[in-house]
Amino acid sequence: MAEFRIQCSGCGATVDAATHLPFRCPNAAENDNIDHVLVRTLIGPDATFPDSAEPNPFIRYRHLSLGYHLARANGLSDDQYVGIVKELDDAVATVDGKGFRITPFASVPALSDRCGGEVWVKNETGNVSGSHKARHLMGVMIYLRVLEAANLPAANGLRDRRLAIASCGNAALAAAVIARAADWPLDVFIPPDAEDSVKQRLAELGAQLHICERQPGQMGDPCYLGFRKALEAGSLSFGVQGNETGLAIEGGQTLGWEMADALRQAGADLDMLFVQVGGGALGSACYRGLVEAVEAGVINRVPKLFTVQTKGAYPLKKAFDAFGADGKNAARNRSAYMTPWPTEPHSVAHGILDDETYDWLALVEGMTATGGDALIADEESLREANRVARETTGIDVSHTGSAGLAGLMNTFREKPDADLKAAVLFTGIER
Ligand SMILES: Cc1ncc(COP(=O)(O)O)c(C=O)c1O
Ligand SMILES: [Zn+2]
Repeated sequence: MAEFRIQCSGCGATVDAATHLPFRCPNAAENDNIDHVLVRTLIGPDATFPDSAEPNPFIRYRHLSLGYHLARANGLSDDQYVGIVKELDDAVATVDGKGFRITPFASVPALSDRCGGEVWVKNETGNVSGSHKARHLMGVMIYLRVLEAANLPAANGLRDRRLAIASCGNAALAAAVIARAADWPLDVFIPPDAEDSVKQRLAELGAQLHICERQPGQMGDPCYLGFRKALEAGSLSFGVQGNETGLAIEGGQTLGWEMADALRQAGADLDMLFVQVGGGALGSACYRGLVEAVEAGVINRVPKLFTVQTKGAYPLKKAFDAFGADGKNAARNRSAYMTPWPTEPHSVAHGILDDETYDWLALVEGMTATGGDALIADEESLREANRVARETTGIDVSHTGSAGLAGLMNTFREKPDADLKAAVLFTGIER
């Protein structure tokens, strides 16, 4: 059995996942300038990387998940854990038309020809709810189900608490699908200008919508404030931000593990990975997944990590530049690196306009460790990347979903190199 540890990368606090939800650091306090994010580590020979053709990532990579080892340490068998995942996945399929399956990741010659390097694409547009976001939340829900099945202390009163998320797009849709599948009530805090089609689908899925107007003189995002208020009143965080739902990162790591698996099969190693960044959970999950795959010997090296934000808002780039200048003690001096974007940003890639990159430190460390960079894409390159993505792959990807490709194309335009292998993720479908 593997040991697992959940520790705050900011203050060092540890959390026992049987008694406390590994979501928000217990020491997290407003304005203490510490970057509280709970991170899970698995230790021991049983945390093995699989060699398997199992199509469901949450079953294939179960030995890499906290929920699995928590289940096994508390009397559930391997079959029982797989049963929990299957039951939930079947319910997801009933709600959304499909369950979780390993998504395609392959080299795309037509796109490579246009970019001047060998380009690999991970296609998440066919994933549950039309984006990668549901991976993060499926991981969280499996953990909650394990708490219940093993009757662990953290399950006490759990079902009396509603789930809550602040989002107006893919994350909210993903949360609503998973919550519906688990028959768990969900509150979604959204801005007044959220798209009608999204609001309609959320309502169809049974989510309770809360429209959050900005009050005169109010500081901060009103949706986030509404969400925080719900948590203070007892709701469970069911979002995709590492600071609030630390365990959400692990479900996203399935992306990194799947990429590593496909590379192993192809006998290839990636040189570069370009990831679009909003709140940072996607990028940090991919990076951590790839690091764990290297540690397990599945691939030989972690690719250089390039993050991509828009000209509208690039708080991560600012943090990366500050870190490069003086990266000492960053976890305990958050405001010297990560500050909320001061103005309301706009971009065709509207899914990555978060005013803070919540998981910034993992990304800054990843870019530094691999020799990558924090890139900014302008509107023209975001539009062009989307055009090229559609033309060469036929995938109905959104501008947010193809934003990483804008960073890749700009980089290769400056320095083409047909020998380099670079990857992007088409993370969301056009709605
Ligand atoms: C399609 C899509 N891609 C990428 C992202 C960015 O993910 P993250 O906020 O975890 O950085 C989002 C976030 O909303 C998204 O909807
Ligand atoms: Zn902490």
